[in-house]
Amino acid sequence: MNITARDRLRLLGGASAALLGACGGGGGGGGTSAGQTAGTPVVPVTPTPPTPPTPAQTFVPAQGALRNAYLNDFKVGAAIQAAWIDEAGTDIDALKSQFNSISAEYEMKPDIIAPTEGVYDFTAADKIVDFAIANNMDIRGHTLLWHRTTPDYFLTGTKAEMKAKLEAYITAVLTHFKGRVTTWDVVNEVITDNGSEAQSPYRNSNWYQAVGSAEYIDWAFNAARAADPDVKLYINDYGTESTGKRNRLITVIDDLVARNIPLDGVGHQAHINVNTAASNVLQAVDAIDARFAGLENHITELDVSVYNDPGSCFNNQTGCAADYGTAIPASVIAAQAQLYRDVFTGLATRSSVTSVTLWGISDDRTWLNGYPVDRTNAPLLFDRSRAAKTAFRAVTDPTFEI
Ligand code: XIL
Repeated sequence: MNITARDRLRLLGGASAALLGACGGGGGGGGTSAGQTAGTPVVPVTPTPPTPPTPAQTFVPAQGALRNAYLNDFKVGAAIQAAWIDEAGTDIDALKSQFNSISAEYEMKPDIIAPTEGVYDFTAADKIVDFAIANNMDIRGHTLLWHRTTPDYFLTGTKAEMKAKLEAYITAVLTHFKGRVTTWDVVNEVITDNGSEAQSPYRNSNWYQAVGSAEYIDWAFNAARAADPDVKLYINDYGTESTGKRNRLITVIDDLVARNIPLDGVGHQAHINVNTAASNVLQAVDAIDARFAGLENHITELDVSVYNDPGSCFNNQTGCAADYGTAIPASVIAAQAQLYRDVFTGLATRSSVTSVTLWGISDDRTWLNGYPVDRTNAPLLFDRSRAAKTAFRAVTDPTFEI
């Protein structure tokens, strides 16, 4: 807040009025005070009401400040929900104003599109895709296969039957969105977190167990390429900022590339926290660049949790960092802004990075308010009142001092 000389005078006036009030002086008239001559009309002294200090001006970003800052580098996306599109004055305003790419937070996952085998409902997904196209935005299709959103029917029957069901699903979805959705996360989170497990580098998921191997990954990529030769096909995962996970992912990509399985890019979810080193995120991109010429990198689900939780918090919800409530310390908000700045500016110098997506828009509607535990989180670029945060300014204005 800039306090002008005038403000200072006002504040002083307010202070003296308050003092007067406390001493019982200056009030309403009617009585006479000592020393006042009887018969002299009593002129009530009405103190100037204290002027509240000018509230800090809410920073209002210029239209397009975020997407324009990276226009020559990458698209800047956000995950949204179809229901938000009809709301007035909430996240959708920020979306239109600042972003040029969209992901569906859940409406393009198999349990929503085809909860029953062979019965497709594209209503919610179409709403998001139509909105993206009407507003000149890219759309990242997320996701054709994820162990957490696979309806049971996919995983029954013989291997040949499972393959046929996956192929039918992928063909139907890519045919429906042909020419409209140009990028798909074909498989999501197929890499294990535990390198000492027998099936490592693959996740011991419901898919892996039902099929008895990681062959379903091939089926998914091959079906996607057959259905749409122009669409960009991605493998997407979290934790690529840590070397173990990253190396297991690279092992899997090595194998896919060696066998000519169609793959165009690597999605790094980048669910990081204020204590993550930006260099670890950048090293994930560099590791892909160094090994696989021609593969693109997307940051697909970026958010910066204000909590640095131990593994146990994710595994069994114990030992999680204590809830700050809505009073997140200023030092944490500043550290978050610095990390966002370091990640964005670093990514901008890596030409293989063509898209950076935030997993949400404002802090009041982020999956991290409920994951790994119910807690007040603040991982995004807009706060709970939809004001642009320090982190927003950090990534859009290089002269802004955090
Ligand atoms: C999450 C959504 O944000 C939630 O709304 C939904 O209930 C579960 O999925 N990794 C992913 C995303 O790939 O699809 C997840 O999205 C977050 C973690």
